[in-house]
Amino acid sequence: MRIEIDEKVFDVMLEYEQIKKRIRLIGIQLNVDFENRIPVFVGVLNGSFIFLADLIKEIDISSEVTFVKVSSYDGEKSTGKIKKEIGLQMSLKDRDVVIVEDIVDSGETLRYILDMIRAEEPASINVCTLLLKPKSLKTNFEEICYVGFEIPNEFVVGYGLDYNGLGRNLKDIYRAVPKSEL
Ligand code: IMP
Ligand code: MG
Repeated sequence: MRIEIDEKVFDVMLEYEQIKKRIRLIGIQLNVDFENRIPVFVGVLNGSFIFLADLIKEIDISSEVTFVKVSSYDGEKSTGKIKKEIGLQMSLKDRDVVIVEDIVDSGETLRYILDMIRAEEPASINVCTLLLKPKSLKTNFEEICYVGFEIPNEFVVGYGLDYNGLGRNLKDIYRAVPKSEL
């Protein structure tokens, strides 16, 4: 199905049922990997709010949730400048941290978040991202242990991800249709 957001055309890339199935599997993996450890899930706002909400419901071990907020994007292009909007609200010293991201694109945002969290001297840091664009990633991060889906270098929207602030409410994930395919 094709939709239009802010005069840009998108079509479905990942349906909610498929996303839910993948999240269930990631949840199982996290429950095993963090058994008896009380991890802290650090959601990166705004984009991760729906993913984290669904993911945390699959977690049955004792755990905590907190959020940070950074901004870096302007429409489709990264501005390259990352700004801290809401910093850490709790100490992560000696904690097992799982950073929860909606998408890792160039990795600039993740690098910024990792620096912020490393400064807290946690016991461990792992990254769980719903989407990863491997072809866009500038450097590899050994912390990225949990990936929902690897996707091509296409702009996506929905399930928390936005285009110019719009489309976060869409249940499925859509990709921008290139002009050549219209
Ligand atoms: P990075 O710093 O280039 O890795 O970009 C990370 C941030 O940019 C993500 O947390 C998103 O907020 C945003 N972003 C990157 N790619 C997309 C996309 O395809 N759709 C919507 N937001 C994106
Ligand atoms: Mg994000």
